[in-house]
Amino acid sequence: MSRGQYPSTRMRRNRMTAFSRRLVAETRLDTADLIWPLFVVEGNNITQPVDSMPGVSRYSIDRLLDQAGMAVKLTIPAIAVFPSIDATLKDDQGSLACDGDNLVCRAVRAVKAAYPDLGIVCDVALDPFTTHGHDGLFHDDKVLNDETIAILCQQAVHQANAGCDIIAPSDMMDGRVGAIRAALDSAGHQNVQIMAYAAKYLSALYGPFRDAVRVEALLGKDEKATYQMDPANGDEAMHEIALDIAEGADMIIIKPGMPYLDILARAKVEFGVPCLAYQVSGEYSMLCASFENGWLNRERTIHEVMICFKRAGADAILTYFAPEIAATICQSQ
Ligand code: PBG
Repeated sequence: MSRGQYPSTRMRRNRMTAFSRRLVAETRLDTADLIWPLFVVEGNNITQPVDSMPGVSRYSIDRLLDQAGMAVKLTIPAIAVFPSIDATLKDDQGSLACDGDNLVCRAVRAVKAAYPDLGIVCDVALDPFTTHGHDGLFHDDKVLNDETIAILCQQAVHQANAGCDIIAPSDMMDGRVGAIRAALDSAGHQNVQIMAYAAKYLSALYGPFRDAVRVEALLGKDEKATYQMDPANGDEAMHEIALDIAEGADMIIIKPGMPYLDILARAKVEFGVPCLAYQVSGEYSMLCASFENGWLNRERTIHEVMICFKRAGADAILTYFAPEIAATICQSQ
């Protein structure tokens, strides 16, 4: 296409008025684009602030219901529930993950009973439940793949039994999506969706999350490098995503968010499936630190980052800012 040249073409013409800027905007942000991650703890009437995530707390189930109610009021389609487990309840197998009465399952049942139309996403991985903090079984300094998958399948079925709508494997074991799909199907959960953390990178930006679910201190030096992806790699992410889709993933997550927009954009173009960005805890906390110092304008920065996720190809974004963003959108309508 041949394009006009200055002075007949003036790019600024479309930008001159507010109505015109609205007309030519290619991307819009809606409350329907948001998933709100929430942390849950045992107990009653507990709201426990997470030190490294200003404005984020762990809630006991009764208080979680208030947050879920807020999500519904703000027309946020879904929440993601993450448990913070008492150290005394962890073991090296993460046995509690496969207890249908564990904290996550009870939280899901309670939220579903109170708000049946609110979507619930549950992480599938053993890290909240293991004493070593790894996502899978850990023997001789190795995270075991196939043995872990068998446990993840049970964990997923318990979550689906409790009423979870979307199973989100975040463990990065090979072959887990196919195995979980088969396990869900044979338990009668054909319509429970799988949102695969298809491209999950080994990232320093998960630090505050591990504070929130209290696993940071547990990990050894080698961390999660044998299963999470090297941030240096992009083609490998496409390979991971292709496998997860072939195994039955309904949607895929790219994680972390902002530094990985190239991966998100490629994934959307190459696969054309629902793609989600996870703006992770470290991204949230970096921004909050700047807001608290008065270095960045809170509302404008959050909006810009969200629009950029969408422009890059995100169909939705998992973000701890979800209620704040949704409130701003609802007020402006
Ligand atoms: C656990 C899990 C992690 C996150 C989501 N699920 C941490 C990790 O893999 O160590 C990170 C979320 C965030 O940082 O906001 N499998």
